[in-house]
Amino acid sequence: MKLYSFPTYERMSSAAFEAVADIACAAIAERGVFTIALSGGSAPQGLYRLFGEQSGNRFPAWRNIHVFFGDERCVPPEHEDSNYRMARELFLDGIDIPDENVHRIYGELSPNEAAARYSDELAAFFGRHGLFMDGKPAFDLLLLGMGPDGHTASLFPGSRALDAVDSSAIATEAGPGFEPRDRISLSLPLLNNAGTVMFLVSGESKRALIESIFVKETERTLPAARVKPRGRLSCYCDFTLP
Ligand code: 6PG
Repeated sequence: MKLYSFPTYERMSSAAFEAVADIACAAIAERGVFTIALSGGSAPQGLYRLFGEQSGNRFPAWRNIHVFFGDERCVPPEHEDSNYRMARELFLDGIDIPDENVHRIYGELSPNEAAARYSDELAAFFGRHGLFMDGKPAFDLLLLGMGPDGHTASLFPGSRALDAVDSSAIATEAGPGFEPRDRISLSLPLLNNAGTVMFLVSGESKRALIESIFVKETERTLPAARVKPRGRLSCYCDFTLP
């Protein structure tokens, strides 16, 4: 587990961009393709803007990159709450990436249909490219955020979704106070099957929770604390930690 703290949001985003570029270059050199799953929320937005601004020099060609989503709200793709819409507006619409390289979750379907469709798409793509590990799709990089209650992706504290082990993507429900309630999320086994998991966490209000999960390791039950990937785990924060 590597923890990186930065004095500003911009410095965190820039450092995360450099790290993603390195992982992408290594994956493409090794296997000809780089697979990344995006997070929703506000923390990764600076990174996404850099994806749009910096492509072409520091970043490998988007034709070798496949973009997925770690979770999605059960809304149509043009809805203001859509994680796919956010990614489109921040960088996907401004880069030269083939349509077939962007794998959105069909939030406009019923939750169970959307989860089944996404699980099938993951199995087909990762199977076709020989990118399974331990019998499951293995992302090169999975971006995650963390909510104030310790949720990550759309896995919320106390949710039965945390026990789902047989599916890659599942229909879940956000915790109280988080809207929209109906969500689709990668399951915990899928999160933990990634080569690298990178948390991006912004805001002093999350310092104590990050410290208890990733520094003191006293918090072990919240969803963010249960992300223990087979590969590398890192957390980028825009606040100082002891
Ligand atoms: C979502 C995200 C969610 C997010 C956290 C943190 O779809 O909303 O996947 O898990 O990462 O809620 O959000 P912030 O980055 O805005 O704090």
